[in-house]
Amino acid sequence: MTIPASAGDPLAGVLPATVRDKENRVSAVRPYRPDDRESLERFYTCYSPKREAQGLPPEGAHRIARWLDSILGQGTHLLVEHEGRLVGHAMLIPTDRPGVSEYAIFLEEGARGQGLGTEVNILSAEVARTLRIDRLWLSVEPRNRRAVRSYEKAGFRFRPETVFTPEVEMELVL
Ligand SMILES: CC(C)(COP(=O)(O)OP(=O)(O)OC[C@H]1O[C@@H](n2cnc3c(N)ncnc32)[C@H](O)[C@@H]1OP(=O)(O)O)[C@@H](O)C(=O)NCCC(=O)NCCS
Repeated sequence: MTIPASAGDPLAGVLPATVRDKENRVSAVRPYRPDDRESLERFYTCYSPKREAQGLPPEGAHRIARWLDSILGQGTHLLVEHEGRLVGHAMLIPTDRPGVSEYAIFLEEGARGQGLGTEVNILSAEVARTLRIDRLWLSVEPRNRRAVRSYEKAGFRFRPETVFTPEVEMELVL
């Protein structure tokens, strides 16, 4: 019997995937691999503006490396590439709550506002469903209207008890 290369990979049916922005430009989304570490560090070194989303991504090579050390060892990380260049990173990180993962996404400045983030959020929800995650959770500053809207369009809803706090929480029940 020939075992396909993808056997045992729960995401084989979902990733890699292509997504299209509002201008119909195609980007590829695939799982992070350990040999992507250097390009991910470069992505966050060039990322601008730093610390805009609740202090993330951190500033400085050392802090970026430490942050990546802490997040890459857990959960599921998706890389977004346009014409072979890394333009985004989305992550699903397990939380203390069983079945609940935290979701975050960072697109490079030039890739924002064109519908790409929404599409990656929708795909990430599909990834979460495939991984049998029950719920995605995130916190976001309400002034980050673009992020809030892109999450809403992917199905996230506010947790009502947090709407008057400096960082609102949103959840997507899968
Ligand atoms: C957040 C992020 C992933 C969103 O992705 P994106 O590709 O920029 O967003 P999209 O273009 O898919 O969608 C943005 C939506 O917000 C809307 N929007 C933009 N600015 C807005 C504003 N000031 N008020 C209300 N809506 C706004 C857009 O019109 C669009 O909605 P529409 O498609 O219905 O017109 C991306 O902007 C990003 O990486 N930002 C920096 C990092 C960050 O903030 N991450 C979130 C951490 S919680």
